[in-house]
Amino acid sequence: MKKVLMLGFGCMGRVHYDVWKRLRGVKVAGVFDKNPNALSDPPAKAYGYVEVSDGKPVPKSLRLFGDLDEALRETKPDIVDCTLPTRFHVDTAIAAMKAGADVLCEKPMALDAAGCAKMIAASKKYGRKLMVAQCLRFAPEYAFAKKLVDSGKFGKTVAASFWRLTAPPKTPKGAKAWFFDEKLSGGIALDLNVHDTDIVRWIFGEPQSVKIDAHRRGKCVDHFIVKYGYKDAFVTSEASWAASPSFAFQFGYRIMFEHATVVYDPWRKDALTVYPEKGAAYPAPVKTSSPYANEIKAFLAWTQGRLESAPVCNCDIKKTISLITEGFKL
Ligand SMILES: NC(=O)c1ccc[n+]([C@@H]2O[C@H](COP(=O)([O-])OP(=O)(O)OC[C@H]3O[C@@H](n4cnc5c(N)ncnc54)[C@H](O)[C@@H]3O)[C@@H](O)[C@H]2O)c1
Repeated sequence: MKKVLMLGFGCMGRVHYDVWKRLRGVKVAGVFDKNPNALSDPPAKAYGYVEVSDGKPVPKSLRLFGDLDEALRETKPDIVDCTLPTRFHVDTAIAAMKAGADVLCEKPMALDAAGCAKMIAASKKYGRKLMVAQCLRFAPEYAFAKKLVDSGKFGKTVAASFWRLTAPPKTPKGAKAWFFDEKLSGGIALDLNVHDTDIVRWIFGEPQSVKIDAHRRGKCVDHFIVKYGYKDAFVTSEASWAASPSFAFQFGYRIMFEHATVVYDPWRKDALTVYPEKGAAYPAPVKTSSPYANEIKAFLAWTQGRLESAPVCNCDIKKTISLITEGFKL
């Protein structure tokens, strides 16, 4: 039985908890959150996110800790799942590994590459497994895009566009509004767009350059487009915190291959559609599933020795963080 300690029980903490509680061979042993009502507050819907917690009350036996050292000492976890705001990822992940736990950490891994390097070094030093919950790598629809590009099934990529558009993020009642402070969240480039930049790198490899066009609201960038420099393909990603609150969160991609166009738009009836060069459009043969459940199951399998190698390479995620924090001139 693997004992799990959750760090953070806000929007993403609740979503992760809903996955952990359904898995066999796992027990959530406690929660560390400075909000004394974290276990009883109704779960808020995370911004930039389509799934929500089931909102069912947590068992009375679930312990809440306001102090990390005490939580680690009392629960002696095998696994720590960190869904704290980004600025706490590095220190808490290192403390957890030092205490002997394997760590799953929400994206973005850290606010800069130096933070990522510290986490990777701690994982080596303490001999613990560390995985970043870069959820899109576990979404069947994005894996499908990678498979098509890798296999060349529809020829070369001519153009590809990825988007992630939402209203300004909200924080749970009483919590510090940290998303708009770029020092705390990394701003929209790191917090929201990390998904698409990571996916672009995962699918197309390292771009030779990046070019940005951004819109600012006050001091904060709230909308921007990245053009990634690849020799043959025209690849962009677009990120927005500028949508109005009634606008549903939208994300997806469109890839024009030489011999087909593939569109992923979760809000359409056939969310993932292939438009071939000849013949009628057809739904892609891909069964959708929760990327959050998939990433947690993969991490658990790795910690249990059912998966030999890390489901996500931390050094690769560090490169995504470097590209954004050092390469993007916003
Ligand atoms: N993978 C995704 O799709 C996705 C979506 C949203 C957020 N995230 C990431 O998940 C992380 C958390 O985001 P969220 O939306 O759940 O945030 P949130 O604000 O909803 O929740 C954070 C929780 O941490 C607690 N907390 C804050 N400071 C603390 C401290 N010093 N000590 C102990 N507890 C503290 C808060 O009380 C709150 O319960 C961020 O890194 C964010 O970028 C990922």
